[in-house]
Amino acid sequence: MNQAQSIPIHRSNDNSIGHRGKAGAFGTTFGDHMFSQDFDGDQGWSEAGIHPLNGIRLHPAASVLHYGQEIFEGLKAYRRADGEVCLFRAIENCRRFNRSAARMAMPEVDENFHLQALCELVALDKDWVPSEPGSSLYLRPAMIATSPRLGLAASTQYKHFIISSPVAAYFGDGHSPLSVLVSDHHRRAVKGGVGEAKTGGNYAASLQVSEAASRNGFDQVLWLDAIEGKYIEEVGAMNICFVYDNEKIVTPALSGSILEGITRDSILKLAPHLGLYIEESRLAITEVLDDIDSGRITEVFGCGTAAVVSPVGTLTYKGEAHTVNNNMPGRVTRLIHREITNIQYGEVDDPYGWIT
Ligand code: COI
Repeated sequence: MNQAQSIPIHRSNDNSIGHRGKAGAFGTTFGDHMFSQDFDGDQGWSEAGIHPLNGIRLHPAASVLHYGQEIFEGLKAYRRADGEVCLFRAIENCRRFNRSAARMAMPEVDENFHLQALCELVALDKDWVPSEPGSSLYLRPAMIATSPRLGLAASTQYKHFIISSPVAAYFGDGHSPLSVLVSDHHRRAVKGGVGEAKTGGNYAASLQVSEAASRNGFDQVLWLDAIEGKYIEEVGAMNICFVYDNEKIVTPALSGSILEGITRDSILKLAPHLGLYIEESRLAITEVLDDIDSGRITEVFGCGTAAVVSPVGTLTYKGEAHTVNNNMPGRVTRLIHREITNIQYGEVDDPYGWIT
């Protein structure tokens, strides 16, 4: 990979800062600038630069519009009490971007260059990083296939870009327990498919079910495995964790169809330091619901970059609601949330080397 070491910057002429750094509804306001670069099969990557946020011109036959050849990522920049701005596990995020690229037959990006682009974009738009508690600047790297060709084949041209959006909690106030519908008939992803890649089609495929769930008052949909329809995989925008007996966090083992969440991985790494046990295993929905009803499962929470750590209050399966911890956020959920956000916002030392 042949990458330039410096990224040309073309600044926006808009110098009014009044509207910056205010988090609206998730992902609806955007930073002033974006990074982009283009790939052409013969020449590799070129045209890298940071410039004012603008639209992308595409040929109507661009592969992304017809065959969905695209990937994306999500990570956040956090403003600390001293005003400094930091990224959380950014290099792991770049690596996952490249794993998704490989799965979708797309070219990889230079990880260090991608990280440099993230840092320079955040430095330029630092006024957009909000300072209200729990808020951050959500960064959205993406890559789309741009070759104008209707024959089905991997594109030879791509655009890689990064935009930003100031955000607050993904769900409501960020603390109220979510009501989750377990999807009985529809499946999100199958082993051998693209479930562990962060590609738009996985999310598009979930929308019909999640929209119907939302009309019926549910916040999110929990997906079961596509082969037996028996084992828990993940929830719409999050991975899922179950707390047994107030002391053990159990999350579905990565199966090839579950997204390798970076928040999930962070929880598995830090929980033992908080006196908690961890386990990754196959979790059958019927056993989990029995364990909720008997009180063996004392808490359930979802985790993800956008969602952070969000308590789950009810799981509804085949028309029957199962309530967790009297629909209240539990001790372990609050502890994990606090620990992870304390590292992100620099309230405590970062013994793991997760902060850039
Ligand atoms: C994230 O947590 O960054 C995601 O990609 C979830 C997205 C559906 C908002």
